[in-house]
Parts: sequence; C-alpha cells; structure tokens
Amino acid sequence: MQNNKLSVRLFGQPIGILELDNKGRLHFNYLSNATMSISLSLPSSEQAFDHKHCHRFFKSLLPQNDNILNSISKILEIEPNNTFDFLRLMGQDCVGALSFHLLCSEIEDKQTSPLKGEIISDKELAHRLGYLCEIPMLVNEEGRRALLPGLQSKVAVCLIDNQIAVPSKGCFSTHILKFPARHAKDLIDNEYFCMRLASRLGLHVCAVEMRKIQKTNTLLIKRYDREICGNIVKHYHQEDFCQALGVLPSRKLEVDGGPGFVHCFSLLQKANIPAIDRNHFMRMIFFNYLIGNTQGHAKNISLLYLSPRYFQLAPFYDISSILDDASNMAMKIGDDFFMKAIKSRNWQILCTQIGYSYPAFKQLAQEMLDVLLESAKIEHKLMEEEGKETDFVDELIKFLKKNIQQVEKMLNFR
Ligand SMILES: Nc1ncnc2c1ncn2[C@@H]1O[C@H](COP(=O)(O)OP(=O)(O)OP(=O)(O)O)[C@@H](O)[C@H]1O
Ligand SMILES: [Mg+2]
Repeated sequence: MQNNKLSVRLFGQPIGILELDNKGRLHFNYLSNATMSISLSLPSSEQAFDHKHCHRFFKSLLPQNDNILNSISKILEIEPNNTFDFLRLMGQDCVGALSFHLLCSEIEDKQTSPLKGEIISDKELAHRLGYLCEIPMLVNEEGRRALLPGLQSKVAVCLIDNQIAVPSKGCFSTHILKFPARHAKDLIDNEYFCMRLASRLGLHVCAVEMRKIQKTNTLLIKRYDREICGNIVKHYHQEDFCQALGVLPSRKLEVDGGPGFVHCFSLLQKANIPAIDRNHFMRMIFFNYLIGNTQGHAKNISLLYLSPRYFQLAPFYDISSILDDASNMAMKIGDDFFMKAIKSRNWQILCTQIGYSYPAFKQLAQEMLDVLLESAKIEHKLMEEEGKETDFVDELIKFLKKNIQQVEKMLNFR
C-alpha cells in the first residue's frame, strides 16, 4: 500500500492524486480525464502543480490554530505541520465537496449521503464541549474524520429531529457548532447578533441559531455547502478567497501581504452573474465597516460552485464586531486600513479601484444607514423576548449609534 499518495475526490469521484515526496513536499496532479478544477488557482488545464502552488490550497482546508493542530497531531501521532497526514487521516469530510482517500479505497459516487448520526444529549454534549480543548473536532470519535478550517474551536455536526448529532461514518455534516473561547466570552452573542443583523438588512448570510447547552451558549450555523432534502444531504463544492487566489491562509489579511478588495472584485468578475455578486459584496464591505467587523479577510469570504463551471459568492459567515473604531479593517478601504481614518475620499478611491459607481455606492450606503439602527433595535428586542442575555448587544448598539452619526457626516448625508 502506498502511504505517500492520496486519491483526491470531488463528489466522491477521483479527480487527482496528492503526493508527498521524501523531502516533505506536496505535488498535485489531475487525472487525465478530470473535467472540473478543484480551485481557480489550480486549473485542471494545467495538470500538474508543485508544492509552492498546491500547498497553499490544501493547507487552507486545515484549522489555522496551532493549539488545535498540536492537540490533534498528538492524538493521531503525526507532525503538526504535516498537511498531507492531516488530509490522509481526517480529510474524509472537508468543507465543500472534496475528500481524500487511500488509493486502494473503494470509490463511491457521492453526490449525496443519508442524514444519519448519533444524537447526543445536552449533558453528554456539555461534557464533550468541556474536553474539546484537549480533543478538538471530536477527533477520536469512532469513524469521525471531519476537518474544519479557521482559528476558533468548532465541530461539524448534523441535526436529527432538531437535536444535535455526530454524523455517522461516511455521512455529511450539515451544521457547524461553535462554542465560546476562553479569551473571548462574548464570541457567540457577538456573532449571533451580527449575523442576524446582516440578514435583517437583506445580506445573504448563513442561518444561525443560539443553543444553550447546559450553561454554555453555542452557535449552530447552517452549512451553505450542504443542502438537506428530507433524509438526504447533498453537498456543493466551495473554496475561500485565499484558496481561489492561491494565497496561504497565514496571509489572509491584506496587511500581511494577502488579498485586498481589488483582488476580490476581480474574482467576482468571473462569477455566474458578476453584477449581483459585486453589489452584494459592496454592501457587505460597508456593513462590516459600520459594525466594526475587522475580520472580513480573504478566508471569511468564499465562492460556492453551482456546477463545474459556475460559481457565485457564498452566503456570508463569521461576522462579528470589535466594538472599537481605533482598529484596522482586514482590507484597505481606498488607501487606509484604520477605521477612524476612513473618509469619503477612501470610498471614492475604492470605487475607482474596483470600477464601481460612487453614486451607486452612496445610494446603498444611505439605504443601509437609514435602517441599521432600527434593525439592530428589533433584533435586540427579539433577543430579550427569547430570554437571551443582551449585555453585549447593548454595547454594540451604543457603538453603532456613534458610528452611524460619524459616517453620515463623513458621507455628507447630514
Ligand atoms: N456556514 C458555513 N457553511 C460552510 N462552510 C462554512 C460555514 N461557515 C464557515 N465555513 C467554513 O469554515 C471556515 C471556518 O469558519 P469560520 O470562519 O466561521 O471560523 P473561525 O474559526 O471563526 O475563522 P477565523 O479563522 O476567521 O477566526 C470558513 O473559512 C469556511 O471555509
Ligand atoms: Mg473565519
């Protein structure tokens, strides 16, 4: 059995081979009959990719948190920086429709999987959440091999009869469960509220639900790369903007040499209906700026493939506020990152850079400013009625009020 080669499968069908050479470098080759590319940065027309070009894509499928990587590597007895071994041992359920298998493993045509899993009681879940820091992603569960990228601790789950379940072996997850980090106790309230607010403003975001598991607030996020049809789960391919642009996840921020809005908009130019995605993305940029979401980096935006050749901007995820305008945005607005330094000329420069009409931008800005505060108050009220704590939201609404006033003045709306 060859342990240095993996069959890379898309929708369960072999599409390429990932190889680890004896210097620890990766090589990716498409099969000669491959009809779809796994990434815009790895076009199947080019067939073969060396380490420099393919590593950044595959590394992006792994968690980006060294503590999580270290803990998993100890359990699986692999090196924490060995992307190949992570994919070999855990790459059977990745984001999107990619999976990694031993060359000899049986080929299944996997467009869908049954919605099947083991329901976990709240008591058991609370117990498991307690030890997730030591055993991330429930990695030692029988047959569970799911990889989720990102810095925060989270697990891939499914919902059966509205109860949280661990997907059975070979079955897709349908939701992501995030839980509070020790250093950021408001993380869940923050993300829940900001996602709901974005949705109320008409932005296309993933559905979220806050679930209290015993005493812990968790965030249950519906996966946009999975579609539940009765008892069947369908999956879709996706890639984040770092992957699509061929950038390492460690360079997700523009300040670290990562992508800026010009790169993002040039990707959207290739989307199924560019005008829709460009408008939608522009609204998201302005929303992020108003609420102080400084984490709108290239791994927090993705492309969703509707078919081998057509993609669109994926619904937005991972939205939260830093509550402080003395902060840097993830990408430059015009020629500045610093929120407080942004003036109308920055928006004008951005519009020129990406070929977007400034009057059209001003109109969308006005529309959003008109309803933002009222929408935030409605969401706040709903949270109160649902008996949720609103301490964080109170702070956020204060921040929004101040920011809205400043931005209205800056854009000459008052
Ligand atoms: N609803 C979703 N459906 C499908 N994939 C998702 C969804 N939400 C997140 N993802 C994928 O999982 C990754 C990690 O999720 P997310 O960004 O929410 O986590 P995070 O750990 O908070 O990230 P960060 O590293 O930016 O702090 C995303 O980059 C994206 O690829
Ligand atoms: Mg993220």
